[in-house]
Amino acid sequence: MPHPLTTALEELRPLLLDGEHLVRAVAAGRRRGQEPPAHERVELRPVALRGGPHLQAVARSGPRVSTRNAALGPDAERLVEELLAVPFGNWHVETAAEVVQLRVTKRGEAQLHRAATSKRDVQAGPAAHDRSKQRLVDPADPLFTALGAGADKRRQVDAFVRLLAPLADRLLADAAQDGGREVRMTDLGCGNAYLTFAAHRWLGGRAGEAGTALRTVGVDVRDDVVARSRALAVQAQLPGLDFATGTIASAAPFGDAAPDVVLALHACDTATDEALARAVRWGTPVVLAAPCCHHDVQRQLQAATASPAPPLVRHPILRERFADVLTDALRALLLRLLGYRTDVVEFVDSRHTPRNALLRAVRTGAAPTPELVAEYRGLTAAWGVEPALARMLRAEVDAVLTGG
Ligand SMILES: C[S@@+](CC[C@H](N)C(=O)[O-])C[C@H]1O[C@@H](n2cnc3c(N)ncnc32)[C@H](O)[C@@H]1O
Repeated sequence: MPHPLTTALEELRPLLLDGEHLVRAVAAGRRRGQEPPAHERVELRPVALRGGPHLQAVARSGPRVSTRNAALGPDAERLVEELLAVPFGNWHVETAAEVVQLRVTKRGEAQLHRAATSKRDVQAGPAAHDRSKQRLVDPADPLFTALGAGADKRRQVDAFVRLLAPLADRLLADAAQDGGREVRMTDLGCGNAYLTFAAHRWLGGRAGEAGTALRTVGVDVRDDVVARSRALAVQAQLPGLDFATGTIASAAPFGDAAPDVVLALHACDTATDEALARAVRWGTPVVLAAPCCHHDVQRQLQAATASPAPPLVRHPILRERFADVLTDALRALLLRLLGYRTDVVEFVDSRHTPRNALLRAVRTGAAPTPELVAEYRGLTAAWGVEPALARMLRAEVDAVLTGG
């Protein structure tokens, strides 16, 4: 039932100023017919600083982030007063006892929803600040135990979600602009779905704060893992999360609609290329892929190199390592040629997996430069290889290479 907006905002005030029980609060979105707020999103948390307990406000606008700390008492009251006066479209407030969501309707009224929080999810008060800074994905989440994820997988998944985090605001803002539609994410080659669950839980939370919804579909060719993950999603009461059996090459996780995010963590060999190729054809804005074993280019290198083989690929162990580097370098080049700003980063320490490189690609639609085309042509000609991704996207790659 709608409430008068001023009354509903007044209900939030004591929760925001309760330094002992507040976990965090997020204000985001805009109100219909009003000037957009100066910041896209403001997050409030209680923090313990040298001068005593404070309320910290972190405001974001695109890439700009500013932080303000207000001592609990009159300073924090002023800060809350100012924020409640900003025409945000949504407030999401988590305390030790409940989650309160306030959404401003088209008519300028408030929809207020309150739900009790499970104790496990909440670490209230200033100490929560330090803990949450270390991990985005709680390694003690019982979901991981149910999924059977070990410590290394939990680390990998947290590191992966950390790379998704800086891209979330833009994704949510774009979906909001596109008629307030849901955000769509798919995890291709999801296997036991540790990443699928963790990313869905995290991004779903952010989507909820922004007043939108997230749908996530994990895809795997194995029936058994899909059936198990489906059952766990129901058990964990995670709405919007589903799984589908099938190959990456033929996956249609959202029917005719394209995903906004494609994830692929250790999809074997050319399954990573299948994931990248699908993402390119869908025009997916955000792609994060941590490749696994690389055999395709390695085989081609072995066949193409003259005898005696050049020193870089003469010894099997070096050939294997060089093939890994060449494969990912070519994948990154191809993604750049096809309109993605791409970098290759170490997403987690090698203690947690030797396969710790990650391709991070954000679609810009930029046209390929002649230098990039020359780099790609030079590298493939020098080593006599045609990477799987280029074979899968032959028409698109031919078009950019020939300027068509
Ligand atoms: C090494 S596991 C990684 C699973 C998960 N992403 C993780 O990191 O825990 C690779 C998964 O990709 C799946 N897979 C491999 N090739 C595939 C393809 N072409 N289409 C769909 N799934 C595939 C396998 O069944 C397997 O579950």
